[in-house]
Amino acid sequence: MNDIDFEDLPPINSCSIGIIGLGYVGLPLSIEFAKTRKCLRTKEAINRKVIGFDLNPNRINELKNGIDSTKETEESELKNLKDIDFTSDISNLISADIFIISVPTPINKQKDPDLSYLKKASESVGHILKKRISKFKPIIIYESTVYPGTTEDFCISLIQNKSKLILNEDFYCGYSPERINPGDQNHRLTSIVKITSGSNETSSFYIDQLYGSIIKAGTYKAESIKIAETAKVIENTQRDLNIALVNEVAKICKTLNIDTLDVLSAAESKWNFLPFRPGLVGGHCISVDPYYLTYIAKKKGFKPNVVLAGRDINDGMSKWVFDQLLIYAKECNLNFKNSKILILGLTFKENTPDTRNSKVFEIIKLCNKKKVIPVVYDPFIKNPNISKNSNYKILEKLPLDKKIKFDIVILAVSHNEFRNLKRKDWEILCKKNSIIYDLKGIVPRELNPLRI
Ligand SMILES: NC(=O)c1ccc[n+]([C@@H]2O[C@H](COP(=O)([O-])OP(=O)(O)OC[C@H]3O[C@@H](n4cnc5c(N)ncnc54)[C@H](O)[C@@H]3O)[C@@H](O)[C@H]2O)c1
Repeated sequence: MNDIDFEDLPPINSCSIGIIGLGYVGLPLSIEFAKTRKCLRTKEAINRKVIGFDLNPNRINELKNGIDSTKETEESELKNLKDIDFTSDISNLISADIFIISVPTPINKQKDPDLSYLKKASESVGHILKKRISKFKPIIIYESTVYPGTTEDFCISLIQNKSKLILNEDFYCGYSPERINPGDQNHRLTSIVKITSGSNETSSFYIDQLYGSIIKAGTYKAESIKIAETAKVIENTQRDLNIALVNEVAKICKTLNIDTLDVLSAAESKWNFLPFRPGLVGGHCISVDPYYLTYIAKKKGFKPNVVLAGRDINDGMSKWVFDQLLIYAKECNLNFKNSKILILGLTFKENTPDTRNSKVFEIIKLCNKKKVIPVVYDPFIKNPNISKNSNYKILEKLPLDKKIKFDIVILAVSHNEFRNLKRKDWEILCKKNSIIYDLKGIVPRELNPLRI
């Protein structure tokens, strides 16, 4: 299959790509586009130039030195790239043909979408487009998770205002959401089908072929930008609701004094029972994206009760989990206020250094309210300065020392290091009659842990 010839667009195999925002999403994407390889669709040689731009000069410095603090990329992979420039100087984007925007889209205190990063990035690109001289029309592709309509109604108008250019006449636009799962070695950027979309037929074909050149799993060309935006946001909403359901099941099981995880394992023996687990829902995707959907639904006059109920349940889990610990400590005649507490894991999920919206901080704050300052160990976190308004002491290594023992050990994140702990390790960590609170169901059962 040969590339379609797009008259006013740069050749797909030799275009220059600017990536704006080099975090968990932008960096792996920059690397895949910069790799020397054959096009996966046409088998022709690819020779592209990638300009990776990030506002944060520290991030640029670490990347130039082959370090990726998100741990999504190997040092050798970073150092072996030839056709990539990392820069915090926006003017270096002037030679780009394609602009891919992958900046954060968090929520604010009111849990409404915070589009300030998208605004700034779009205005920067608009500014660059005004100065850019090329016979090819530029394409701006958004990868950030947004609510339906954001790309066309919010971002494009910013670009048009800044650049004085007109969509589909002077430039094209597209949306291609990212689906990576940080810390997941099995589902990587190129092994996940990528949804693509464009502002008209030409751009949607072009964008689909562009991603098709690097994504081994293939692409799915959505009918429109809004369809692609909505598909992304409902994927995480579905996950959030499924977790909310098992969280509610956990509450019911606790009331009935039945072990939730044993119940779920039994139910999973049916072929179509979905394997979701109860627990804390943090991070910047599942705990955030549903609010983008509910925001736009409410704005247009529809109240999405089910999605909001799921969010309520999941947002309230840290308090519920903590209350179960207090109840159990009382049953065990353990004075919580005088307890020495160790928390294992601080990140929002396993095997990643990402602490964004980690609910473990809420557990720490609840301990602090009881005047307890817990000790925290996380193999991915060495920086004692991440306070997030909570008071705790961070350890650099697991205190497997017979002289240091704890009254309560909370296993909060299932990092591989914790999965590998043996019964004897737990016995070193714990005092006699101490409580092990296993939020992830990975502690040996013979130790009689309190489970969710
Ligand atoms: N992390 C994931 O697993 C994941 C998965 C799917 C989708 N997403 C979505 O992708 C988007 C990016 O997420 P992320 O996890 O990569 O965020 P991140 O915080 O890891 O990275 C964003 C980067 O953008 C930079 N930045 C912010 N404003 C900028 C600007 N105006 N110009 C240039 N750089 C700027 C920041 O310095 C940061 O390095 C979000 O919308 C997120 O919801 C993330």
